[in-house]
Amino acid sequence: MMKKVITYGTFDLLHTGHINLLRRAKEIGDFLIVAVSTDEFNDLKGKKAYYTFEQRKAILEAIRYVDLVIPEYSWEQKVEDVKKYDVDVLVMGDDWKGKFDFLKEYCDVCYLPRTVGISTTKTKMDLNKVNHA
Ligand code: CTP
Repeated sequence: MMKKVITYGTFDLLHTGHINLLRRAKEIGDFLIVAVSTDEFNDLKGKKAYYTFEQRKAILEAIRYVDLVIPEYSWEQKVEDVKKYDVDVLVMGDDWKGKFDFLKEYCDVCYLPRTVGISTTKTKMDLNKVNHA
């Protein structure tokens, strides 16, 4: 049986922390779905991505570990996604530890350790410093 894995995120200014997460998520199963935050959902979260949804989606689709990219447009869609795509495991970075345990009723929930020392926010801050030095 094909084991399906899903993960959620903005994935702006793609970095090795994202790649590590995606690789390890794919290793858990056979088919990896990435739900990428829409620009509207980022607005709602108070986040502003550098790349548009369509650009972030295109980049994710070009990654070998990623089999399908879908939009993440709300906090509430996860149960629906898990049922619709027959998901076996929901994977999140451990910055979300415990936050999605309510989904254990529908699938396995797995929190992977974040890659230390890198994030989109840090990249933006570092580039800002360089440009203003
Ligand atoms: N992630 C990770 N290691 C990092 C950064 C992110 O494992 N160093 C994971 C997150 O835990 C999440 C996914 O990658 O499961 C998408 O994270 P996202 O929030 O898009 O990336 P960040 O770099 O954390 O972005 P920001 O700084 O804007 O919060």
